[in-house]
Amino acid sequence: MNILLIGSGGREHSLAWALRKSPRLGQLYAAPGNPGIATLADIVRLDPFDHHAVIDFCRHNMIDLVVVGPEAPLVAGLADALEAAGIKIFGPSREASRLEGSKGYTKDLCAEADIPTAAYQRFTEAAPAKAYATAMGAPIVVKADGIAAGKGVVVAETLDEAHAAIDACFDGAFGSAGAEVVVEECLIGEEASFFAVCDGVDAVPLATAQDHKRVGDGDTGPNTGGMGAYSPAPVMTDAMIERTMAEIIRPTMKAMAARGAPFKGVLFAGLMITAKGPELIEYNVRFGDPECQVLMMRLESDLLELLFAAAEGKLAGIETRWRPEAALTVVMAAKGYPGDYAKGTPISGVEAANALPDTQVFQAGTAMVDGRLVANGGRVLNVTALGGTVAEAQQRAYQAVDTIDWPDGFARRDIGWRAV
Ligand code: AMP
Ligand code: GLY
Repeated sequence: MNILLIGSGGREHSLAWALRKSPRLGQLYAAPGNPGIATLADIVRLDPFDHHAVIDFCRHNMIDLVVVGPEAPLVAGLADALEAAGIKIFGPSREASRLEGSKGYTKDLCAEADIPTAAYQRFTEAAPAKAYATAMGAPIVVKADGIAAGKGVVVAETLDEAHAAIDACFDGAFGSAGAEVVVEECLIGEEASFFAVCDGVDAVPLATAQDHKRVGDGDTGPNTGGMGAYSPAPVMTDAMIERTMAEIIRPTMKAMAARGAPFKGVLFAGLMITAKGPELIEYNVRFGDPECQVLMMRLESDLLELLFAAAEGKLAGIETRWRPEAALTVVMAAKGYPGDYAKGTPISGVEAANALPDTQVFQAGTAMVDGRLVANGGRVLNVTALGGTVAEAQQRAYQAVDTIDWPDGFARRDIGWRAV
């Protein structure tokens, strides 16, 4: 089977790495890819927002399945265009992508399908939003409705902070993403990332993971796209996984089908495990980055078969197998991230790190300049290792981090602390 993989991050590098292991893989193409992905796939110049170009490419190259890493092409309707052209794609339609694209949409779906989530209200004006926040009391959470590059959420410890966040949204801090605001109850508990592969009707749970969103050790400093992750998440016991499937994932699948927007692709539930059980914080319609990297490290069954079955609507009866070891990934980022950072700084030692046992360095924001690997983004490398325990995986991953010579990069030194 010939595959076209869309994306350029560490997530897509790990997907390419796992797809390569499939005996059913023919040609693997990636657009736009990165230097790590280029060792596994043919890189093609293709704009995923130019649907005609993607369809032409798929027809000329006999692509059997398109796998989409990031959400933006899905929100822009790539799956609808490909399906209309008779091309199989792993990823949701534009309408089903609203689960990520609009927080209000997801909250209303939760209310309708009785899915456990924080109490909330939606607002299009500041005054009633502030009044609701005041009535609920602090701490309270303020969210821009749309996609705001992970920055549209404020967990306000005080009402002053909440009111300021509401003003910021309506004053245009997040552009059109902030034209509507969700104000919601602050949930207390431990967070976990839960992934299910879905075919519109059925859903298969994947392994669990936990990520570290804050930039600094001890989970301090500003939020990022994720500074590291590990799998499995100890808080996600078998019983908690079953409850999440029964109380959150399956009701979502049913409600989406009833709305005429069956969900196909990977449903990524950000959960808070509260005293009451799993509650939904938010949905994403794609794999987490860097959570995907630890999942791919542990996946034993054939990723291509799984994704193809989902795209075909034939997931029923499919099960996944996972290595019993734990996996942990440490993100190496450019100094200054998530603020301003320099590009083009040289990196060496990646091959030596890859040669360590059970270690894989997935590349994210990298580029090759004159035959040398350089940084080309904020999150740059995902140094990933397996171990008998999270502690062992952590020790191996940091050994690999210390093998890499990149004076202009940094990493958190405590990824996995909760599980160790
Ligand atoms: P989101 O972009 O919705 O994932 O929110 C970013 C982060 O804000 C989450 O990972 C949580 O740490 C936090 N958060 C969001 N909503 C809530 C909530 N209702 N209660 C507590 N924390 C929340
Ligand atoms: N690591 C969180 C995300 O991918 O959204």
